[in-house]
Amino acid sequence: MTGQPDAARRRVVVAITGASGAIFGLRLLELLKTVPGIERHAVISKAGGLTLQAECSLPPSHLDRLADQVHANGNLGAPIASGSFRCHGMLVAPCSIKTAASIATGVTSDLISRAADVMLKERCPLVLAVRETPLHLGHLETLAQLARLGAIIFPPVPGFYHRPESLAELVDQSCMRMLDQLGIHLDAAPRWGEAGGVPAIGGTGGRQA
Ligand SMILES: Cc1cc2nc3c(=O)[nH]c(=O)nc-3n(C[C@H](O)[C@H](O)[C@H](O)COP(=O)(O)O)c2cc1C
Repeated sequence: MTGQPDAARRRVVVAITGASGAIFGLRLLELLKTVPGIERHAVISKAGGLTLQAECSLPPSHLDRLADQVHANGNLGAPIASGSFRCHGMLVAPCSIKTAASIATGVTSDLISRAADVMLKERCPLVLAVRETPLHLGHLETLAQLARLGAIIFPPVPGFYHRPESLAELVDQSCMRMLDQLGIHLDAAPRWGEAGGVPAIGGTGGRQA
């Protein structure tokens, strides 16, 4: 995050779309709230609102508590729709196949896909926590195109080497690794081979297995 103007360094966009896993977007905002000086911008799609309610029993208005600014997905005039509004990066978590396809093809008819497109054209990190399974060839080709454009494809596939004991621990590990991609390094979960983390194979110390 060095070498950028202060305003850009502070702004992170979190978008929640209608794939399963709304909790990832929520937790990212919660974790970002613990980082001093980060300006959190949030957007949720209509389908994201459905999954947030279905999975977390929360309305979209809950985002008001977690973000500095919440933008309507239909507001193509929001600051984050323009490359002149400098941002550090964006996480779409979870990212539906529909939104992934919109970004991959440049059909930016809502704010989430437009803001993501802005990240790509401005060469800012764009993390897409694409969630669908199984994937057909069309999905895979969409993801390959996104990777070619510079997006970071980050399916929220959990690791188990830190022996998670709860859903919260699984979610935190994925969120921590997503934030790593933006250069925001939090110790929200044990890290392999680090003091206080998970001992590397053959290593010493750390969390006991
Ligand atoms: C409960 C629920 C779960 C869904 N899970 C997924 C999913 O995991 N991945 C996905 O790509 N779409 C999923 N969908 C479908 C998307 O919500 C749908 O394609 C929607 O049009 C996506 O719009 P958005 O990208 O604007 O949010 C789910 C829908 C519902 C209602």
